[in-house]
Amino acid sequence: MKGPVRRPRRLRSSPALRNLVREHRVEPGQLVLPMFLTAGTGVREAIEGLPGIDRCSVDEACRDVERGLDLGVNAFALFPREDPADKSADGALALRDDNLACRALRELRSRFPEAVLVADVALDPYSTDGHDGIVRDGRVVNDETVEILARMAVVQARAGANVVAPSDMMDGRIGAIRAALDAEDLVDTVILSYAVKYASTFYGPFRSALDSAPVNRPGVPTDKRTYQMDPANAEEALLEAALDVDEGADILMVKPGLPYLDVVARLADAHPIPIAAYQVSGEFAMLKVAAERGLVDYHAGLEESLTCFVRAGARLIFTYGALDFADHRRAESRDGS
Ligand code: PBG
Repeated sequence: MKGPVRRPRRLRSSPALRNLVREHRVEPGQLVLPMFLTAGTGVREAIEGLPGIDRCSVDEACRDVERGLDLGVNAFALFPREDPADKSADGALALRDDNLACRALRELRSRFPEAVLVADVALDPYSTDGHDGIVRDGRVVNDETVEILARMAVVQARAGANVVAPSDMMDGRIGAIRAALDAEDLVDTVILSYAVKYASTFYGPFRSALDSAPVNRPGVPTDKRTYQMDPANAEEALLEAALDVDEGADILMVKPGLPYLDVVARLADAHPIPIAAYQVSGEFAMLKVAAERGLVDYHAGLEESLTCFVRAGARLIFTYGALDFADHRRAESRDGS
């Protein structure tokens, strides 16, 4: 008999064999569903640019959380769209415990004690400038912003967040937030640091969903490149990650996701703490729109993308497709496939 002795195809010859030797799996319990909030009751509005994702009032958001928990998705990241009339240059609304995010946190916490609720720590939804920090003399100022963010994290943790997730990329904020939480005895509040967040064009649909893009006004930087990272850099990602670990981060995030899997893998190798990845709005929209045009299969594309995150070393994944994935998984297991 001629031919190769070693035949890797042998282990691919049936679904059962492939299943037996599969290296990585995605489970609904690893997924975090980002949710867009708006004021009112009974409000559920479609978001242009994110097909299938709605902006919801708190009562409607409760339904989605309930559905998620039923499907095995236990973690939810809240992003509020505040009324432009309530925004200010100093983002003062961020510190009020009656803002939309805190109202949602309190309601969700009381109804779903077991849920993991992730609060976003950054000023952009509250700032008339549309920046993650305070703008002064044409610059996003670091240390003053950090002080506000630390107070903001305490307010969110008290309202019911068990995870606070600074997405602002200021220097030193993880240490300041940890100290502020600990000073209030909030020692069990987890810090998920957006440690490696790139200045990406793939955030477009998110910013339009929240009306949170930097404004076009003299004296306001038109982009976030003085704090979010240059997409060309990977060594610098290691530095950002190391600083955040030293300062007390519990989980490190890389964002965006698929174009940055090399960075996910390097962080996972370098740090023995969980690495999160964020399949951001633009990535998700590309998949959705391609699927709507019949170019790729949505569920297969979603599962493949999420599997690749896990293969690269991500332990948890933020994805707008969390419920779709979990729902599809359940339907498949019901069909016995
Ligand atoms: C802002 C924030 C952004 C996202 C999450 N938090 C946008 C930005 O940095 O401008 C993007 C998420 C997405 O695109 O899905 N603090």
